Amino acid sequence: NYYAILMAGGVGSRFWPSSKASNPKQFIDILGVGETLFQTTFKRLAKLIPHENIYVLTNEKYMEMIREQVPDIKDEQIVPEPEMRNTAPSILLGALKIYKKNPEALTIVAPSDHWIKEEDLFIESLETALNDVQDNEHLVTLGIEPSFANTGYGYIKYDKEDKETLKKVELFTEKPGHKKAQEFLDAGNYVWNAGIFIWKASFIIENFKKYLPEMYRLFDKGSDLWNTSEEKQFLKENYGNASNISIDYGIMEKSDAVYVIPVEFHWSDLGTWSSLQNELPQDKAGNTCINAKLIADDARENIISTSNKKIVVLKGLSDYIIVEDEDVLMVVPKSEEQEIKQIREKVMQDF
Ligand code: GDD
Ligand code: MG
Repeated sequence: NYYAILMAGGVGSRFWPSSKASNPKQFIDILGVGETLFQTTFKRLAKLIPHENIYVLTNEKYMEMIREQVPDIKDEQIVPEPEMRNTAPSILLGALKIYKKNPEALTIVAPSDHWIKEEDLFIESLETALNDVQDNEHLVTLGIEPSFANTGYGYIKYDKEDKETLKKVELFTEKPGHKKAQEFLDAGNYVWNAGIFIWKASFIIENFKKYLPEMYRLFDKGSDLWNTSEEKQFLKENYGNASNISIDYGIMEKSDAVYVIPVEFHWSDLGTWSSLQNELPQDKAGNTCINAKLIADDARENIISTSNKKIVVLKGLSDYIIVEDEDVLMVVPKSEEQEIKQIREKVMQDF
């Protein structure tokens, strides 16, 4: 009775120009390792979850891409969302469909665009969590030791004296401001939320009833239609009316049944181009090459990615992100990579 919901609906705008709405981050080989993040994530989960129990929640327009990347996936495993409404509606939809199949289902929810190094430790943590939620009404998440005051993550506070593997969460704060994030980091008993959740399908549905009742009622109207041919029409008419909210703000911040497992494996949400530098080999001067051949002189700490193993020649250029794709060549200082989102919007407007 193990199931998984794989979240694959985001657009990955900070990885433009390689990642674009028509071909987002999770569906490209952003690390240049020979498979896409989505493929790696699917395989990783399939070590623990029966292949046919892995559901992919995604936008309609990515269905074809998913079929190509995981050829033996069945249509019923791909759940197309008519529009993007953030993670809460899609997790509720996935939970309801899975619950209808198997009321005893234990479910893992996982993003499809993260990087995890030690897969065995990852699987071990999941097994621990699954064993726990089998018997307990808990919402479990995996916690990462924080290394700086990142304001893009959720922070989880637990009791320092708690010696259990699963620790009761005292406070869940999604995306704090910088000052708060720094306080959390200094305090020592906070971990980052990895966005990987483990719970019984029936129990997360209970939590939706309690904390997002309107969303629950909206979807409950369709309860007879899940896994039938009429599901699609129902979603077309109703999905867009669900409020646009993440599971973190909608439920994790509010529920008092949240538990965390601090984990040992190396994890990255691969949030930006610079973050790739920590995961990939570098040359002596600290340059990171993805799908490219670099000839460098007096060039340090650059990140270079090309679409087709191009030769890149750099002289006298350091700390830059250089990304070439079929239509675009982007050269941006690493210190300004937060602006890539805006640059992308401007380019899409003007061209
Ligand atoms: N199917 C679907 N539909 N997936 C979506 C949607 C949607 O409308 N919106 C986002 N996703 C997917 C993204 O592709 C990603 O894999 C995952 O859901 C999480 O969404 P993000 O938008 O990337 O969330 P975040 O990074 O801002 O924050 C979350 O992840 C952090 C760790 O990476 C939170 O859970 C934080 O608390 C956490 O620290
Ligand atoms: Mg993310």
